[in-house]
Amino acid sequence: MQKKGIIVSGMRPTGALHLGNYLGALENWIRLQDEYECYYFVADYHALTTGYDNTDDFKNNITNALIDWLAAGLDPEKCTIFIQSNVREHAELNLLFSMNLPLSWLYRCPTYKDQINQLKDKNISTYGFLGYPCLMSADILLYKAAYVPVGEDQLPHLELTREIARRFNFLYNCEVFPEPQPLLTKAKVLPGLDGRKMSKSYNNTIALSDSPDVVRKKVMSMVTDPQRIHKTDPGHPEVCSVFAYHKLFSPEEVDEIEHVCRNGEIGCVACKKKLAENIEKFMTPIYERRQDWLKRTGDIMDIIKKGNEKASSIASKTMAEVRKAMKIDWI
Ligand code: TRP
Ligand code: SF4
Repeated sequence: MQKKGIIVSGMRPTGALHLGNYLGALENWIRLQDEYECYYFVADYHALTTGYDNTDDFKNNITNALIDWLAAGLDPEKCTIFIQSNVREHAELNLLFSMNLPLSWLYRCPTYKDQINQLKDKNISTYGFLGYPCLMSADILLYKAAYVPVGEDQLPHLELTREIARRFNFLYNCEVFPEPQPLLTKAKVLPGLDGRKMSKSYNNTIALSDSPDVVRKKVMSMVTDPQRIHKTDPGHPEVCSVFAYHKLFSPEEVDEIEHVCRNGEIGCVACKKKLAENIEKFMTPIYERRQDWLKRTGDIMDIIKKGNEKASSIASKTMAEVRKAMKIDWI
C-alpha cells in the first residue's frame, strides 16, 4: 500500500508507561502506523535535558519503553522504531540549528517557563533545557516529516520547527526542509485512580505493565462519588472517576450506568467490578504481547538495530544536504 507521508514522533523514556500515556499518545501512534511512513524514537537526549544528573536507570528505562511500545501494539514491520542517541545526526542538526536560532524564540516557548516553575527542586537553568525545542525541531526536520502527532502542549514547539525550517531555507537560499503540520487528535484524558491527574508522582496510575490481578485491585480501590454511602443514594457520575473510565472503556454500557447511578440502582462496588472486567478485556492482549516480548529480548535488539540503520540512512542524506546548503561540506 502506498503510504500517505512521513510522520515523526518521539517519547521520553521516563519509566513505565501508564494507561493515560497509552490513550494520550501511543494509541494514536499505533493507529497511524498503517497509513503513514512512521518513525518513532525513544527520546533519550530529551530525557537528559531534565534528568542529566541521574542516569543510573537510563538503559533500563529505554528497554522498558521499547517493551511497552511493542506490547501496546507498535509493529516493527509497519513502522521504524529507533533510539535517538543512536542516530548522531540528531545532535549535529541541533548544533547547526542552534547557530542561527534567536534566544528569544526559545524563551517564549511556554513549556520553558512552565517547567522552570514546576521543577523547582531541579536545576534546569541549563543550555540544554532551554534548547530542547531546537533539538525537537532537529528530530522532526531530519526526516523531513510531513506530519507530527503531538499533544496540545507541544504545538508551540511545532510552530518553532516550522519557523526554523523557513529560516534555514531562507538563510541558505535552499529548499531542504518542508514545513511539518501538526496532527492533533483529541486527547482522551484519563483521571488517576484518586481523581487527580494520572501521574507517576501521585502514585495513582494503572501501568500498561500491570498484571490483570493488579489492575482489578486498583480499579476496586478507586475513589467514587464521596456523597454516596448507601447504594440507593442517588449518585453523581460527573464527579466520579470510575464513570470517567466507563466512558472510555464501556462505550456500550455507559448510558445505562449513568442512569442506574443517578437513580441509586447500582452500588459502587458492582459498578467498579463491571469496569474492572472491561479494562481487563482491553488490557489482556497488551499483557499477553508483553509476556511474549519479554522472552524475545534478542529480537528487540535486532528491531532496534534495523530501526537505527533505517533512520540513519535518511538522516545522513539530509545532513549531506544541510552541509552543502551551509557550505560546510569541505571534503
Ligand atoms: N518533546 C516531546 C515531549 O517531551 C518529545 C519529542 C521529542 C517529540 N522529539 C519529538 C515529539 C519530535 C514529537 C516529535 O513530549
Ligand atoms: Fe461512580 Fe459507578 Fe458509584 Fe456511580 S455507581 S458513583 S459511576 S462508581
